[in-house]
Amino acid sequence: MIKIAPSILAANFAKLGEEVKEVEQAGAEVIHIDVMDGHFVPNITMGPIVVEALRPVTKLPLDVHLMIENPDDYIEQFAKAGADWISVHVEACRHLHRTIQLIRSFGVKPGVVLNPHTPIESIQHILEDIDFVLFMTVNPGFGGQKFIHSVVPKIENLSKIIKERGLSIDIEIDGGINAETIIPCAKAGANIFVAGSAIYNKENRAEALKEILHAGEA
Ligand code: DX5
Ligand code: ZN
Repeated sequence: MIKIAPSILAANFAKLGEEVKEVEQAGAEVIHIDVMDGHFVPNITMGPIVVEALRPVTKLPLDVHLMIENPDDYIEQFAKAGADWISVHVEACRHLHRTIQLIRSFGVKPGVVLNPHTPIESIQHILEDIDFVLFMTVNPGFGGQKFIHSVVPKIENLSKIIKERGLSIDIEIDGGINAETIIPCAKAGANIFVAGSAIYNKENRAEALKEILHAGEA
C-alpha cells in the first residue's frame, strides 16, 4: 500500500490550515512537516508552534522531519505539540539509539533519515528500534530539487534486509518525488512518499496527488 505525504514546505503559509485540509480531502494519508534550523541545513522553516496550530486541523498523522542540530533538545516540544512521527538524521545524532528511545518515550513513532550519501550500514543495529526509515533523494534544505537516482539501489538493499530479518519498517522517500520518480522507488520497496512541489505547485492539487499515487501503485 502506497501512501502520499504532502510536504507543507511548498504550501502557501498564509493559509496553511486550508492547504492541509485540501490535500487531506484529496487522499493524502500523512502530512510531512520540514523543520530546519539554519545550522544542520542552510535554511530556516518552522517550529513546534506550527505543529500545534495544525494539530486540530487534520486527523492525519503529522510526520515531523527534523533537519536540526541537537534534536534531543526539541523532541519533547514537538511531541507535546502533536507530532505523531518524528524522524532524525543520522548525522545530527551523537547517540542515535538514545534519541530513538527519547522519541518513543513520548508515544511518538521514531524514524531515521539517511542523506543521499549515508550508507544503510549506519542503521543496521537499530532497525529493531525504529518504525520507519526516511531516504533523502535530494540534499536536505530546500523543496523543488532534482531527484538523485543513485539512492534507488540503497532503498532496494534496505528493503531486502528488512524482509530477511522479518521486520515491519516503513520506507519513506523524500525529495524530488513526482509521477515519474516514484516508480523506481516503489519498485525498490518504498511505501510512503513525500511530495512538496509536485503537489502544491500544481493548479489542481487533488489531480496531482492522485497521479503520483497511481503511478506508484502501478
Ligand atoms: C527537503 C525536504 C523535503 C521537501 C521536498 O529538505 O525534506 O521534504 O519539502 O520537496 P520536493 O517534493 O519539492 O522535493
Ligand atoms: Zn522532508
